[in-house]
Amino acid sequence: MKAVHQVFRDAFAAAPQLIDGVAAGDRSRAELVGSFYANVLSFLHGHHSGEDELVWPLLTARCGDAAAEVQRIADQHGALDPAIERAEVLLGGWAATPDPALGAAVVQALTQLREVLVAHLDEEEEVVLPLAAEHLTVEEWGALPAHGMKSFTGDKLWLILGLLRDRMTQEQRDLMLAHMPPPLVVLAERRRALLPRPPGRARPLRPAGATPGVARARRQERASCLALATTRTTV
Ligand SMILES: [Fe+2]
Repeated sequence: MKAVHQVFRDAFAAAPQLIDGVAAGDRSRAELVGSFYANVLSFLHGHHSGEDELVWPLLTARCGDAAAEVQRIADQHGALDPAIERAEVLLGGWAATPDPALGAAVVQALTQLREVLVAHLDEEEEVVLPLAAEHLTVEEWGALPAHGMKSFTGDKLWLILGLLRDRMTQEQRDLMLAHMPPPLVVLAERRRALLPRPPGRARPLRPAGATPGVARARRQERASCLALATTRTTV
């Protein structure tokens, strides 16, 4: 949960640099940065709906006197929705027409969203996580990641997984890989083979029969790495 929250904290903190850094009229870069934030906002929707469906009902029913406090934090999702939707609308307009004034409005919207969101995430970590550890089973809590990822398909899956894994310890990364279904592990290995290799080491041959999908995944990987690299410089 904390790695997921950190994705949102870091991504929205990087908005001034990433969005203000796009030159007026540079549609290619605006589409890349716009796509990155559109996916992060979509991930935020998925994260919230997962908590709404899988966490709050069980927790408020089981945590006794703390139920009112949990419900107060749950209700913050509704207050965040207008800020998320406003950011999405402004982001779409700027990505289509990368004008600096539109970009400034997107940065302002994402910054305002971040201020309210971070306060909510902090409260979840301080209040909700200990209660969830006490009152939810491992299986109930374990249903959250799949719910959060179900709106992502194709190569977009790797952007979200990359953002998450970048904020995990090595132990957490190994644990995550150990619990992935075998087909996902195979895809992860293939993805790793496509990453840039150290100088002097030959790139392995492209897997047979995977040309179109792999080429797409490779372009997305480069876009994701670019966005991630820029994000890392600001946090
Ligand atoms: Fe939440």
